[in-house]
Amino acid sequence: MLARILSTAFVLLPLVTAQTPINIPAPVEGDPATQPANDPTYACPATCVPPACVCASTKIPGGLSVEQTPMFVTLTADDAIQDPTYEPFSQVLNSTVNPNGCNLPFTYFVSTAWTNFWLITRAYNLGHEIGAHTINHPDLTTVSATVRDQEIQGSAQAVMTYGGIPKSDLAGFRHPFLAFNKDSFDSVAKAGFKYDSSVTLDPLTQPYWPHTLDYGFAYYPQPCIKCPSGPSMQYKGMWEIPMYNLLTNDSKLWSSMDPIINPQLNDYDVALSNIKATFQVHYKTKLPFGLYQHLAQLVAWGPEVEVKKVQLLKDFVAWTQKEFKDVWYVTNQQLISWIQKPVPADQMRTFLPCRPPAVDKANKEICDGIDNDGDGIIDNGVVETCQVTEEVSFQSCYGCPTLVPNITQPVPPQKGNATRKPAPDAACPNAGTWDPIAGACITLTRPQVKIPDSNASGSKPSGTNGDQSKGSGTVAGAKVAKTSVFGATLLLVAVLSA
Ligand SMILES: *[C@@H]1O[C@H](CO)[C@@H](O)[C@H](O)[C@H]1NC(C)=O
Ligand SMILES: *[C@@H]1O[C@H](CO)[C@@H](O)[C@H](O)[C@H]1NC(C)=O
Ligand SMILES: *[C@@H]1O[C@H](CO)[C@@H](O)[C@H](O)[C@H]1NC(C)=O
Ligand SMILES: *[C@@H]1O[C@H](CO)[C@@H](O)[C@H](O)[C@H]1NC(C)=O
Ligand SMILES: *[C@@H]1O[C@H](CO)[C@@H](O)[C@H](O)[C@H]1NC(C)=O
Repeated sequence: MLARILSTAFVLLPLVTAQTPINIPAPVEGDPATQPANDPTYACPATCVPPACVCASTKIPGGLSVEQTPMFVTLTADDAIQDPTYEPFSQVLNSTVNPNGCNLPFTYFVSTAWTNFWLITRAYNLGHEIGAHTINHPDLTTVSATVRDQEIQGSAQAVMTYGGIPKSDLAGFRHPFLAFNKDSFDSVAKAGFKYDSSVTLDPLTQPYWPHTLDYGFAYYPQPCIKCPSGPSMQYKGMWEIPMYNLLTNDSKLWSSMDPIINPQLNDYDVALSNIKATFQVHYKTKLPFGLYQHLAQLVAWGPEVEVKKVQLLKDFVAWTQKEFKDVWYVTNQQLISWIQKPVPADQMRTFLPCRPPAVDKANKEICDGIDNDGDGIIDNGVVETCQVTEEVSFQSCYGCPTLVPNITQPVPPQKGNATRKPAPDAACPNAGTWDPIAGACITLTRPQVKIPDSNASGSKPSGTNGDQSKGSGTVAGAKVAKTSVFGATLLLVAVLSA
């Protein structure tokens, strides 16, 4: 019955409760008696040099001064990517722009069950980063070795196959519940991921920049389950992008994910004050800052709370762009690229030029999640709706599978005559776009980017991006469901499955 209510939409959110941050270990106030924050045996030799090898360090990469260093912010999201949560989060990202004129990017760690794969394609072609987060969102420290590998590798395959992510751009993995141990790290490394991002650090006592794991961790990797200390967790060339804990405005550990954990407390002011205070702690040393969200948390408590949470995030990003001139919102992969080859803030626009979405009347519509021809409808007539079973339905540019992807069969064959061509392993060269129907890289016309005046405070979305977002209300001939419609349903799910 519940499944039937939900299946009337493209969106199915039974994972909402399974993914609430209740299961995320609370930050542990530095307790040196049990776990020293930092590992005195860490030794990283002088032969470890970028770009291949980067030691764990609290110093700014490249020997830049604090003043020269850009202030990086990462916004990450976890779990199934679905319309009712993607839309409100996009409002936050679209509400302001980076100094290069582009909308803010996110890094989305997608768990494949209940995902709308078309949103992966849409996000990727808007310049967001897609990472993997298993298929069914299990605690990887409690499953068998076989299931662990299947969950990790299968999620990468499904994201590439039905979301159209080129293998070369699928780099990151985040552990469900942030639950990891040596075995799960071994599996992530074996699957070939370029980085993991699951370790939480206290920015006051463990202000480490992202680094490679060639020589392991320089700190005790919270919240590792029985991790061996010392140098036994080493992975050549694989990165760890730490998740920094948020602090209260008087410098106590507050939250590792999802600011405003209990919306019923109506603690908007406290949350904004804490997030700003934590950002300022990072800004003093330019240690990258991050906000790590479960997007289901935006909508799980109903429309009123959703509006407040979205406003909180909008207010925070507007404040950073207004008050600080050198703030750059980046994806995790962009952050890695910068650490490998650091440039001062005044060269960032060359380092990270804006590549606006391909929207122009001269284009034909191809299935890439973008309104290429600018007619106000994204992927008009080319995106397919896959009713895989009675309960599971999603959209995709990459053909519909005959079965629901699962751990033993993450990429079942395409229905029909398999007319959609998978994305190539390497992203299209020269800013080309993969056309899954033609099976070729296509060059599309992209609009000019308006570079915001660096001296102007409170940057606004450029004209280009404004046009782009106009198309977002309509999807392939059918209106995108309004989030508020789902608010009540989501709450219902939360209550029923609690
Ligand atoms: C810190 O937050 C509290 C609420 O939690 C607020 O009353 C106080 O004014 C804040 N202090 C600063 C310096 O922002
Ligand atoms: C995955 O799906 C296939 C085909 O429906 C099924 O045979 C297999 O048992 C499923 N695997 C699991 C672990 O459910
Ligand atoms: C598959 O191809 C055959 C021959 O080209 C055609 O007759 C058939 O209609 C196609 N089926 C689908 C589902 O497109
Ligand atoms: C910004 O302000 C500085 C100093 O006030 C000035 O030298 C510079 O030309 C301005 N830049 C722009 C793009 O207006
Ligand atoms: C703004 O967000 C919407 C999703 O609601 C998206 O479709 C649109 O393309 C976004 N615009 C840009 C420029 O990112």
